[in-house]
Amino acid sequence: MKISVVGLGYVGLVTMAVLSDNGHEIVGIDIDGEKIRRLQEGEIPIFEPGLSALIEKNRKRLEFSNSYDSITGSKYTLICVPTPTVNDRIDVHYVIESGKKINEIDPESKIVIKSTVTPGTARMLGSMINREILSNPEFLREGNAVKDTTKPDRVVIGGNGGVEDFSKIWSFTNSNMIITTNENAELIKYASNAFLATKISFINQMADLCERIPGADIRVVADGMGMDKRIGRAFLNAGTGYGGSCFPKDTRAIASFANDMGVELSIIKSTIEYNENRIGNLVNRIENIIPEKDSRITVLGLSFKENTGDLRESKSIELITELKRRGYNNLKAFDPVTSQVEGIDIVADAETAIKWSEFVIVATEWPSFSEYLEGVKDRHIIDLRRIIDNKTVKLDYGVGLNVTN
Ligand code: UDX
Repeated sequence: MKISVVGLGYVGLVTMAVLSDNGHEIVGIDIDGEKIRRLQEGEIPIFEPGLSALIEKNRKRLEFSNSYDSITGSKYTLICVPTPTVNDRIDVHYVIESGKKINEIDPESKIVIKSTVTPGTARMLGSMINREILSNPEFLREGNAVKDTTKPDRVVIGGNGGVEDFSKIWSFTNSNMIITTNENAELIKYASNAFLATKISFINQMADLCERIPGADIRVVADGMGMDKRIGRAFLNAGTGYGGSCFPKDTRAIASFANDMGVELSIIKSTIEYNENRIGNLVNRIENIIPEKDSRITVLGLSFKENTGDLRESKSIELITELKRRGYNNLKAFDPVTSQVEGIDIVADAETAIKWSEFVIVATEWPSFSEYLEGVKDRHIIDLRRIIDNKTVKLDYGVGLNVTN
């Protein structure tokens, strides 16, 4: 079947690739002409494991265009455009504009919103253009996006008409399917992300407590908690706080949305507040460990998490900025994917960077970092992600670890 995807960021590109792999003819639309040109030439603008190979494999079923006209004849058009949070409020105008555009070009093509939108948005677009709109939020994690789209924990579809029919395009996933109202679908996405963000702020607070208790280690505490099926071990890794393009923006958007409805989401609000202060609090601790401001420091990792080149709301970048603000100017960084960021001195290989440093700060959980630091004895190591085995490598500081252990 012919399906169009509007907005070729992580969600749009991965959705295109996975659906084309299932035999559909997919047209991808983006207003960024340069992005379309690169895609047409076979260049993938983002780093995402498995994505290039999948696009290459299905190239004959994929078309890239910067004209909405190309959607003509699509059974479904999936909206995957950004929904930024501006002044703590969601901005859905890209979704609304693209919905109107699709409606003008092809009134027969069924509109599906995949972008994260606050409850009521699908209904609002529907009444503006007098059509049924489907909601199909995505739950893909960057770095795992292809797998998460091919085998998601669940597929959520909201709407009034045509939901069963649309659900067939995802039946290959064999995943749990929830068919419900638009509003439930929209809220499932926010409630899930806000809950996961809360898990992270919660475990980071427990990590603060562990650091004060001789004998305590958050990793072991999280393992013990995680064995309880009601809790689960995922998203209980203490670290620098959550970053990226989703959690910070979604938690702020749902808190202000609820506020407008007269409901105070106090748990989410304190999750946000704790996360916003996280880097400042960690740097307070680092100041005690690195008293000399001209010490040679290398920060390992620049992206918001491992296996991605995405720097949006990266806690590592925030950390570097804060360290510089407090006078640490002898700073370098290494990242497995990113080689250029304005104002940051990035070293091309990790070993050179480590050799040069007096202090090494692990800021992102790339598994290769623990290999680089294995056997390193004459450097001070600060592990903000707890990926280094503290039984074999001496840590000067580890999040959630009482170093007097
Ligand atoms: C997230 C959601 O997981 C996904 O379902 C949604 O659709 C989009 O947002 P993503 O932003 O790609 O995906 O990243 P994720 O893996 O969820 O991590 C978010 C942040 O939390 C990262 O900064 C990560 O380092 C941090 N994190 C995650 C922790 O600090 N500890 C953990 O245990 C897990």
